[in-house]
Amino acid sequence: MDSIPANRRLWNQISSAYQHEHDPQIGATPRLWGMYSIPDAHLHALGDVTGKRVLELGCGAGQWSRALAAEGATVVGLDLSEAQLAAAADAMGAARYPLVQGAAEQLPFAADSFDLVFCDFGGLSWAPPHLAVPQAARVLTRGGRLVFNVASPWFEVCYDEAASRVTTTLQKDYFGLNSIAEDDGATSYQLTYGDWVKVLRGAGLIIDDLIEPRPDLGTPNGYNETDPPDWAHRWPAELLWVTHKP
Ligand SMILES: C[S@@+](CC[C@H](N)C(=O)[O-])C[C@H]1O[C@@H](n2cnc3c(N)ncnc32)[C@H](O)[C@@H]1O
Repeated sequence: MDSIPANRRLWNQISSAYQHEHDPQIGATPRLWGMYSIPDAHLHALGDVTGKRVLELGCGAGQWSRALAAEGATVVGLDLSEAQLAAAADAMGAARYPLVQGAAEQLPFAADSFDLVFCDFGGLSWAPPHLAVPQAARVLTRGGRLVFNVASPWFEVCYDEAASRVTTTLQKDYFGLNSIAEDDGATSYQLTYGDWVKVLRGAGLIIDDLIEPRPDLGTPNGYNETDPPDWAHRWPAELLWVTHKP
């Protein structure tokens, strides 16, 4: 299924409201992961990027990319939405980096171009993983790393669509998790743990770690309501995969 046109349309429509609501949190300080803005300094997922060639898949307004560029990485920010890229261009700091319009499932880069490909709820949440993961692996150099954060299957199967909140009740089947219908015909993606492992290994990647970010008690979720409020302190809301190309 080709979700590129509808996903591009959705993100162009919601970009301005999304940045108004979330940029104050996700852009507050560099390197914050996910819905709970957990610092990378606590999770140690990305490591030192100085001098590395880095691609962010679905960079949005570039909160991550501009931080890594300022640290001395050679960063490319890729996104499907021209409105999101315009927000990234507006927010670019002194450390400038190129922005590219493109889709994670059809990367417009030569093989072996990057030492690190990463995203935080970006292209690997919004492109079919069986297409986007092999593309990421293709553009990585040997030894290069693919690191990405997505919602966990727990979070997805406990999400009550009618109440718009995450619950303690299983709401949908776990087996068969794949595409998730979003507003206005857009699609996001989620896999079971087993399917993520198959897709990553099938693309020739080695899995080094699966970090399950755990917010401290009382940390607000900037995106979703959860019932109980400390849901993500008790169950994993996100999966942060750390992999490399051998
Ligand atoms: C939730 S934002 C993630 C960006 C940033 N980390 C953030 O938290 O705001 C999702 C981003 O993925 C982009 N996107 C959607 N589909 C995509 C695709 N197929 N390829 C690349 N980027 C895509 C959207 O335009 C949007 O900027």
